[in-house]
Amino acid sequence: MSNDYEVMISSEEIMQGIRELGKTLSDYYLGKQIVLIPLLKGGFMFAADLIRSMDVQMQIEFLGAASYGEQTKSSGEVRLTLDTTLPLSGRDVLLVEDIVDTGLTLAYIQRLIKSRDPASLHTVVLLDKKIRRKVEVEVDRVVFNIPDRFVFGYGLDSPGGFGRNLSDIVAKKE
Ligand code: IMP
Repeated sequence: MSNDYEVMISSEEIMQGIRELGKTLSDYYLGKQIVLIPLLKGGFMFAADLIRSMDVQMQIEFLGAASYGEQTKSSGEVRLTLDTTLPLSGRDVLLVEDIVDTGLTLAYIQRLIKSRDPASLHTVVLLDKKIRRKVEVEVDRVVFNIPDRFVFGYGLDSPGGFGRNLSDIVAKKE
């Protein structure tokens, strides 16, 4: 990583936050069988650690979304890049997303899931840039609230497209 970047949330802090969320979700879903859906691409690493912190019977499905836009700002026009294969009707669905920014991506994906008539839909996000919200979106649990800065690492993409494999979440120095 170049000197232009600083660690915003270390891997230890991330893992501690995820362990706590895992316990909360294990209590919340006690005795239930759920369908957990990581939203790709950014949610893959968060979901991989979260599912191992949860003691819940689950099936795992994937949804992929991308938004057309400039490198660090989404345009709000969302594309579905991967769809689920199991029916979601009557199921308790847990959606796992890396970051909510304007809220447009989550709003689109939540509408899609709800149109399939699940018994419940719960959404957890690792990072929330609340100040940037453009549309109201239901987020049930947030692990970290962050300021309006472009971040990457821990599954999140950098503008050049090479940052996803970092263990920490980093931001460009201001
Ligand atoms: P929204 O639709 O504006 O809420 O944006 C959500 C999507 O934009 C996320 O799923 C990310 O893929 C991407 N995104 C938003 N902010 C950041 C960031 O700071 N770093 C990396 N990706 C981001």
